Amino acid sequence: MTKLIGSKKIKTAVFISGTGSNLKNLIKFSKKRNSPISIDLIVSNSSKSKGLKYADQFKIKKKIFSFDHVTNTERKILIQLNKYEINFICLAGFMKILSKNFIKKFKGKIINIHPSLLPKYKGLNTHERAIKNKDKFAGCSVHYVTEKLDSGKIIMQKKIKIANKDNSYSLAKKVLKQEHKIYPASIIKILN
Ligand code: GRF
Repeated sequence: MTKLIGSKKIKTAVFISGTGSNLKNLIKFSKKRNSPISIDLIVSNSSKSKGLKYADQFKIKKKIFSFDHVTNTERKILIQLNKYEINFICLAGFMKILSKNFIKKFKGKIINIHPSLLPKYKGLNTHERAIKNKDKFAGCSVHYVTEKLDSGKIIMQKKIKIANKDNSYSLAKKVLKQEHKIYPASIIKILN
């Protein structure tokens, strides 16, 4: 991955589908002096994503794509990424799977946050599965995105203890708090 050159920040797009707490956290981080990225575009697959409000709040361009037809949609996204000179992509709760072709075009420049201690619990419902299996620990991972779902090289992980009284909601809340720490830290680790 290209490292930060001089004081110019790397133009970044954040892809979301939902609440956008990681998005908000990354926007705040991007405004700090030590952040190697600026956030110049927010992409969502749904106009209902709550996180889109942060585009308005922080005056960042937003684009919504339906993903009905993946190839066409990705072509349109690539046009926008080009237009805004985006050189780095952070997936943050983005629920669509990007094609091999798209990932190839941004090789080594797409990262994702996943709410489990990968390689454990790839895919959905990670907290439910951890609790059902009576795991002692849960956590989150930031990793490079490759064509294999949730399988790219891990950049950073944070492990937390699962309490006896935890359910999937309380666990998600605890893990999310850690996500907000390791996502910026991972970006600093690979780009600074
Ligand atoms: C996070 O737990 C993230 O790890 C997962 O989806 C959730 C998104 O939360 N992929 P938010 O939209 O950033 O609040």
